[in-house]
Amino acid sequence: MGRYDLALIGFGGVNRALAELISRNGERLAEDLGFALRVVAITDLRAGSLVDTDGIELAPLLATEPGKLDLAGLAGGSADPRNEWVIREVPADIVVEATFTNPTDGEPALSHVRWALEADKHVCTTNKGPVALAGRALKQLAAEHGVSFEFEGSVLSGTPVLRTAQRMFGGLEITGVQGIMNGTSNYILGRLEEGLELSAAIAEAQDLGYAEADPTADIEGHDVQLKVMILANEVLGADLRREDVFREGISAITPDEVRDAARKGLRWKLVGSAIRHEDGGVDARVAPLALPAHHPLAGVSGPLNAVAFQTDLLGTVTVSGPGAGRIETAYALLSDITAIHQRHADDHAAPTRPVLKETHRV
Ligand SMILES: NC(=O)c1ccc[n+]([C@@H]2O[C@H](COP(=O)([O-])OP(=O)(O)OC[C@H]3O[C@@H](n4cnc5c(N)ncnc54)[C@H](OP(=O)(O)O)[C@@H]3O)[C@@H](O)[C@H]2O)c1
Repeated sequence: MGRYDLALIGFGGVNRALAELISRNGERLAEDLGFALRVVAITDLRAGSLVDTDGIELAPLLATEPGKLDLAGLAGGSADPRNEWVIREVPADIVVEATFTNPTDGEPALSHVRWALEADKHVCTTNKGPVALAGRALKQLAAEHGVSFEFEGSVLSGTPVLRTAQRMFGGLEITGVQGIMNGTSNYILGRLEEGLELSAAIAEAQDLGYAEADPTADIEGHDVQLKVMILANEVLGADLRREDVFREGISAITPDEVRDAARKGLRWKLVGSAIRHEDGGVDARVAPLALPAHHPLAGVSGPLNAVAFQTDLLGTVTVSGPGAGRIETAYALLSDITAIHQRHADDHAAPTRPVLKETHRV
């Protein structure tokens, strides 16, 4: 059985969850997927970095509380994340980027992805920044280096929205996408419908772990704006910048408006959408909409997310599932690695390209 060696960049919720999956379910996953996974490098702003080309023993790291992890004291460890050196020089097959999302310039994740692709390494990421702001250039760079750049988790975590559109819709023309892509704002709108004031609904979402301490990105639609860019660019072939996507959040909606609408059978939702016009132009926006009950997105409640594709031959096709969660997002990385495997496992044509190594069963 073959094996992929991974370098994990950022060791917060998502990459830790991926490490947990590998550590706890590695054998079952290998049997199911047909390849084994091994972590050879971890870098993190706070914890430092750790490299072991024979494979890092993950269990002791995972047994340490996230905030207390200190990689510097371990053999092969350093207090410095050493991102560029790890990404470029450590012999990993796949670099897994899961640092924070920077919606302005995508950094430092954008550089992490570039360094990896330039070093002929496959990349998978859950980070919306580099995908939304530079997806086209990064895919081009990956193609030039004969490697893959995968990012299913950047939209709706592990729910396979992008891959469904790319792989399952052959022969269909997708003319538009519309989605509820932020569980926090969706949960808050639901609670306004049930009688809560905005500030109380935000506080409750924070208590439940749905909302960040600073909920601006969720409430004001910045998070959805990046997802709309990714969908428009990936699925509709657009090349949108942030300023091309109109954005309005939910903070101006009053609880009375939400409850009045509910009495009339309408449900307020924060909807991200992109429509392709006949002249090829794409109109993309994020805005609250009062949807009628029969709309495919009207019943998507609480932290659930969904994306509806408008197609020429099937009409509307809706994919629905979790839009966040560390395990759910780690699953997206697993699906990216599977996609890399499917594309490259038999490809031995380019000697510089990382290929599946032979190994014993794990
Ligand atoms: N969690 C989800 O449900 C979800 C869903 C979809 C997409 N995503 C995206 O996936 C990415 C990871 O999410 P997460 O929940 O794992 O976030 P997280 O818990 O905040 O983890 C990010 C980690 O990256 C580290 N980091 C930041 N800058 C770094 C650098 N320059 N070099 C090395 N490490 C660095 C952080 O260290 P410090 O803590 O010291 O800053 C932190 O440990 C984000 O871009 C997020 O938007 C997350």
